[in-house]
Amino acid sequence: MKESFSLDALLRDNIKKLVPYSSARDEFKGEASVLLDANENAFGSPYSKNYNRYPDPLQHLLKEKLYEIKGVPPEQTFLGNGSDEAIDILFRAFCEPMRDNVILVPPTYGMYEVSANINNVAYRKVNLTTDYQLDLDGIAAAIDGRTKLIFICSPNNPTGNSIRRQDIETILVNFDGIVVLDEAYINFSKQASFTKDLQEFPNLVVLQTLSKAWGLAALRLGMAFASADIISVFNKIKPPYNINQATQEIVLEALRDVEQINTWIRSTVAERAVLTEALAGIPQVQHITPSDANFILVKLEQPRELYTHLVEKGIIVRDRSKVELCEGCLRFTIGTPEENAMVLAAVEAFYQTGQ
Ligand SMILES: Cc1ncc(COP(=O)(O)O)c(C=O)c1O
Repeated sequence: MKESFSLDALLRDNIKKLVPYSSARDEFKGEASVLLDANENAFGSPYSKNYNRYPDPLQHLLKEKLYEIKGVPPEQTFLGNGSDEAIDILFRAFCEPMRDNVILVPPTYGMYEVSANINNVAYRKVNLTTDYQLDLDGIAAAIDGRTKLIFICSPNNPTGNSIRRQDIETILVNFDGIVVLDEAYINFSKQASFTKDLQEFPNLVVLQTLSKAWGLAALRLGMAFASADIISVFNKIKPPYNINQATQEIVLEALRDVEQINTWIRSTVAERAVLTEALAGIPQVQHITPSDANFILVKLEQPRELYTHLVEKGIIVRDRSKVELCEGCLRFTIGTPEENAMVLAAVEAFYQTGQ
């Protein structure tokens, strides 16, 4: 349990004072048959379905449905145009450009650094340890009075492992800024989500996405879960209609099929074990980090040459061999059984015959 926390002390002044845009659909609640408040085209849309009306700015139906699945109430849920939108909003809410700083723990998802650069906010890098866990002493030493956010990704991209729960809690308890826990890959993990712990930690923001296990990357739907106070700040800052109507409708329908998603998650986890074991049997494969995600980080001989070879065969993996602490590694996303068999055969052929 976190004893003391002041959201007000962390927010940028301009955000504290911000009067948010009030959209037409915000000001009106109830039934209406003649909508002449938002300068829309009243005739319709040049499409088989009408999209001439602005969508619900706060996506009430979607949030209710997500409440059933995730157990986090709508007032503690923010929906964004991908979780990348939530990452950007965190910077804009809390970080004064050129004055505040954030802490990143590489190797990790690259967007935190890009978003810091876009917002002209300094970042301090505290590398993960060699077993890809948090360097708690290093993080403690890097924090100063202007540190607003710490980004932790668990399971971590690109390493695939989960960060120790106890260490995340240590940071939540001891750091007075916001801890951003990116759980993009949580569905593939045996670890419990921190969404259950939001009451205990008022400085926690959990990010999740429908782009991975849920198979909806093209629709762009990311989630941030936090205290109602933090979520109302997000809602103040976001563009009024950030989730379009087509996405809201399609996602609402897709969320009914939890069974399908669970089946795919089980298959992905089973395939992860199969591919890991098969790759581990290749003499040129030096190490595979145990993964809680839908990808594996594999250290192997001649990574760049293998990468190019796979590209020539039409198989694209991610080359992380030049990333600090991932030297010599390629990241393989777990595909269908057929795709995994193809990638395995191509890796074996490369090391055996060079083709
Ligand atoms: C850790 C992590 N967070 C967030 C994202 C982006 O998610 P979204 O598609 O919701 O923007 C990714 C995508 O690769 C990711 O790896």
